Amino acid sequence: MNKKNAFSISIAGGGSTYTPEIILMLLENLDRFPIRKIIFYDNDYERQKLVADACEIILRERAPEIEFLSTTNPKDGFTDIDFVMAHIRVGKYEMREKDEKIPLEHGIVGQETCGPGGIAYGLRSITGVVELIDYMEEYSPNAWMLNYSNPASIVAEGVRVLRPDSKVLNICDMPIDIEERMAVIAGLESRKDMTVRYYGLNHFGWWDDIRDKDGNDLMPVIKKYVLENGYNLELLNKEVRLNDPDWLDTYRFAKEVYRLDTETLPTTYFKYYLFSDYAVKHTDKNYTRANQVMDGREKRVFDECSTIVEKNTAKETNLEIGVHASYIVDLARALAFNTHERMLLIVENKGAICGVDPTAMVEIPCIVGANGPEPLSIGEIPTFQRGLIQQQLAVEKLAVEAYVEESYQKLWQALTLSRTMGDADLAKVILDELIEANIDYWPNLK
Ligand code: NAD
Ligand code: G6P
Ligand code: MN
Repeated sequence: MNKKNAFSISIAGGGSTYTPEIILMLLENLDRFPIRKIIFYDNDYERQKLVADACEIILRERAPEIEFLSTTNPKDGFTDIDFVMAHIRVGKYEMREKDEKIPLEHGIVGQETCGPGGIAYGLRSITGVVELIDYMEEYSPNAWMLNYSNPASIVAEGVRVLRPDSKVLNICDMPIDIEERMAVIAGLESRKDMTVRYYGLNHFGWWDDIRDKDGNDLMPVIKKYVLENGYNLELLNKEVRLNDPDWLDTYRFAKEVYRLDTETLPTTYFKYYLFSDYAVKHTDKNYTRANQVMDGREKRVFDECSTIVEKNTAKETNLEIGVHASYIVDLARALAFNTHERMLLIVENKGAICGVDPTAMVEIPCIVGANGPEPLSIGEIPTFQRGLIQQQLAVEKLAVEAYVEESYQKLWQALTLSRTMGDADLAKVILDELIEANIDYWPNLK
């Protein structure tokens, strides 16, 4: 990509609850990443309109030089674009609720990206994300897509198989969030004062080396804290989104996950895979995370957007900046300005993690420049981690094969193999209910 004075961005999933905080974050970073145009694209006109009307006011007041457009027309949404920032949720919260409640009704983990619900979401998302890629390639063939639509692992595998040459980078904010906590624990100002080694699949990985810029090992001090508190940190819980009983439990619970392997530091999502009984027992099957988010974040963000529109000003808005979403700007800058920043991305393994399928989409450190990411080598990993990764990888690959081949059998195998699942008969019952719920979204499985 050529150096430019200012960039044009399309936000796909303009109606997302995260869009206003991304806009505020982009405005905060204009000196590092100048923007000439922002386009919102969504396939739900009504949902996007409220968010777009509010963001238009924010932009008018804070950066009137930025051209703004909101559209449901793909041609307008993707023409003259340098970067697509994609955060769509195919099926919206209505389907997230089903992903969570259907397995839970049978005593199985019901979670956005883990287990049967994650697989169900994956089969919906592949279609939506591939559609966005095709629009981008048709109308702005030189653009990059920075995708954080979930479930990132299955989406990344689907894109690898279906659009192998596309310029798409998949990234997740969970390691960023945890690293911010680690930096505070280690007494540093920023996660950028640390250099980390991390490996695994998305929402399924471990840190095995964390150092400060002088090369001092920070693992011991962080481990000591995590053993007692998990990643729970009073200081950081002020952020509204995270000051939420569910997230607090997840951060705290990381100490139980850590006890299972004290050589590494885990991501929070192992709560669902390795402590499934706990996760099920601590979820209200009638009021799941989707309900909490609809009554919480969605209501809060949409109410605030309405207020901005009613007052026709955002001068006193209490919308928060998505602080750790600034990794998206870091990634865009790395591509645009060849910064060679070290970042965790979801990329094809190609031997980086020994003993793991070379075609696995793994989450590992990469050096990112104008040509894209150059993954760093991880080498050998312990048996425990390798075993878990192989199993989860097979689940994700089977899910994508099932999608591509329209195979009922493979999707049944995928559900059965998930560590959140016990029994094949039960997997079939859950699968049949998920097929019915996803009738408008999934391929017709044979
Ligand atoms: P949301 O439902 O509020 O917003 C998603 C938007 O996508 C909706 O406005 C919807 O209409 C739109 N959409 C759905 N299908 C579409 C399609 N085919 N084309 C265009 N637009 C489409 O969801 P949210 O909670 O704000 O989350 C958005 C996405 O970001 C989800 O996939 C979520 O899992 C993901 N997310 C990822 C990370 C990460 O770190 N990877 C962090 C936060 C959220
Ligand atoms: C983290 C993960 C995302 C996930 C989100 C769910 O940020 O990295 O991938 O979508 O949590 O949060 P929520 O508040 O919607 O349950
Ligand atoms: Mn994530």
